[in-house]
Amino acid sequence: MQLTEKKPVPTGSSRKYGFIVTLLGILVLITLSLYKGGSGTFNSIILLTVPKQPDSLCPLVKKINPIPILSSNGSLDTLNDILHSKEYRNKSLSKFQGALRIPTQIFDEMAWTLDKSDDEVTWKDLFESDERWQVFQEFHQYLKKTFPLVHEHLKLETPNKLALVYTWKGSDTSLKPILLTAHQDVVPVPPETEAKWHHPAFDAFYDEETGYVTARGVSDCKNLLIGLLEAVETLLEEGTFQPKRTIILGFGYDEESRGEGALHIHDHLIQVYGEDSILMIVDEGNDGYFVEQGLNIIAPSVGEKGYLDLSIQLNTPGGHSSIPPAHTGIGLMSLLVAQIEHAPFKPQLSGANPTLNQLYCLAEHSPTIGKSLKSDILKSHFDPGANGRIIDYISQSHVMSYLLKTSQAADIVRGGLKVNALPEVVELLVNHRIAVEDSVASTRDKIVKDILVIAREFDLGVVVDGEEIRETSIHGYFNYTSQSTLEPAPVTPTSGPVWELFGGSLLYLYEDLLKVDNGNQFVFAPALSIGNTDTKRYWDLTKHIYRYQPAVPQKNSQIHAIDEQLLFDSHLTVVAFYYYFLQVADSFREAL
Ligand SMILES: *[C@@H]1O[C@H](CO)[C@@H](O)[C@H](O)[C@H]1NC(C)=O
Ligand SMILES: *[C@@H]1O[C@H](CO)[C@@H](O)[C@H](O)[C@H]1NC(C)=O
Ligand SMILES: *[C@@H]1O[C@H](CO)[C@@H](O)[C@H](O)[C@H]1NC(C)=O
Ligand SMILES: [Zn+2]
Repeated sequence: MQLTEKKPVPTGSSRKYGFIVTLLGILVLITLSLYKGGSGTFNSIILLTVPKQPDSLCPLVKKINPIPILSSNGSLDTLNDILHSKEYRNKSLSKFQGALRIPTQIFDEMAWTLDKSDDEVTWKDLFESDERWQVFQEFHQYLKKTFPLVHEHLKLETPNKLALVYTWKGSDTSLKPILLTAHQDVVPVPPETEAKWHHPAFDAFYDEETGYVTARGVSDCKNLLIGLLEAVETLLEEGTFQPKRTIILGFGYDEESRGEGALHIHDHLIQVYGEDSILMIVDEGNDGYFVEQGLNIIAPSVGEKGYLDLSIQLNTPGGHSSIPPAHTGIGLMSLLVAQIEHAPFKPQLSGANPTLNQLYCLAEHSPTIGKSLKSDILKSHFDPGANGRIIDYISQSHVMSYLLKTSQAADIVRGGLKVNALPEVVELLVNHRIAVEDSVASTRDKIVKDILVIAREFDLGVVVDGEEIRETSIHGYFNYTSQSTLEPAPVTPTSGPVWELFGGSLLYLYEDLLKVDNGNQFVFAPALSIGNTDTKRYWDLTKHIYRYQPAVPQKNSQIHAIDEQLLFDSHLTVVAFYYYFLQVADSFREAL
């Protein structure tokens, strides 16, 4: 996972909330037009008996009890075994540790895609391009050895040799398949940090006393990858579940770099199944639940911010540094950086942002939220004053403020060759994470506006993505180029049957199976992610993408950092959830 924000939006009571205005009539009108209800239904299980909540901005989902629909009458025992038996734990831990001990580190300079079709690529080709791919072959062999039934009963395809696509074919091909994803790769452990780990990064040390496993990739995200395989292996061992709905597992190999693996998986699936052909996709993302304002909030990420890397070159006449102009190329570029930073993107909070939907859930269901804050949240989509106060409130937290605005970070500057020569070419690289209300184009336009301010002041030309928009002068010109771009992800619907299927199944996990009892109500609510996962490649496969893994509360997971760790119980939680969720999803029927 690449930097996913999972913290709740802050909602303590605040003195600023002195306004108690209830425009209930307007509110009801607006909510009615927002929530049109779902377009599907459950046939073999009766689920949608949840009372209609038309005046709710955060309708509660109804818990799904899977036990009556599970294939084996011993399913509850199996679930309890997975979660509580010493034997299962021991076996599961060994399988997990084995996977963690294979250092599938991805380095940015490894070659992604060879100039060959998927069928033609061989391991030899890959090793010739970069021998560091060898651990991936080892990883594949390890999976084959460790999950024999999966490899016997599921079809395995390997787009670009490195990606893994397992298909458990369902008997009813009219049902849309479910796709569960994770990635094989882990971020590298820089040699200079190796000694700082309390246990070596690839030893997969398990601490009997605390229950934590320490390893690179333990949280991000071999936990999920191995958990999914274990869930399927357990179903196959039991031998009673015969899927009607096809189940696909898709594991990329460079999520922590460019996500080319996911692209190969995508292209393969599009070819086999077509667009909008998948019921739902669940990938890595937020985990477990968090406690906020007297609620336990289960919040999968239903959207992701966009992305723009851009380069700005400034070309100026060189010369001897004994007779410099008032501003050298470096000086002019510095003025541009200052211009960009003096005009940050404005925060906004519209109905397009899942953060607002999460706030609605807090406002409607929290037993402790302050009255004025609650009232402001509930009218923030039509009352500009309330909207402004909520934005100010969230923006008090530096981290949370980025849920509401496009970020801009000047990350690299290059320029100058010699201390006695004027720099002829200076380059600036800027990274943006684009808010859901913005786009690649609007982000680019803002930066071009900043460039024009400096260009006019110093009479410089401006070229934007190959097009001259201001004439080049003898003083030189700016050359703007968009490098990698990604629009904000389409937001997964946060109501309707698929939402209820996933949320209702998770409620059962925490309330009934894990018996979490901290006195708080569980609420299934959406979240926005400020980073990106492999799902950026999957948008046209389905509208329903969730970035989430089941977990129990634990200390900081140290993702991408020294001492990455996972409470092993969270791993078992993933296995238990998918053991029954695959069967519940199998009984789910879309509307005709
Ligand atoms: C499970 O079902 C089988 C076949 O219907 C039956 O023979 C067995 O007794 C059942 N086991 C339990 C524990 O109910
Ligand atoms: C599982 O149990 C066996 C036998 O007690 C033990 O040797 C092994 O180390 C255990 N494995 C793990 C991962 O704890
Ligand atoms: C602008 O920069 C791009 C990327 O570095 C380069 O390919 C292009 O030739 C440059 N154009 C001009 C006019 O300098
Ligand atoms: Zn990840």
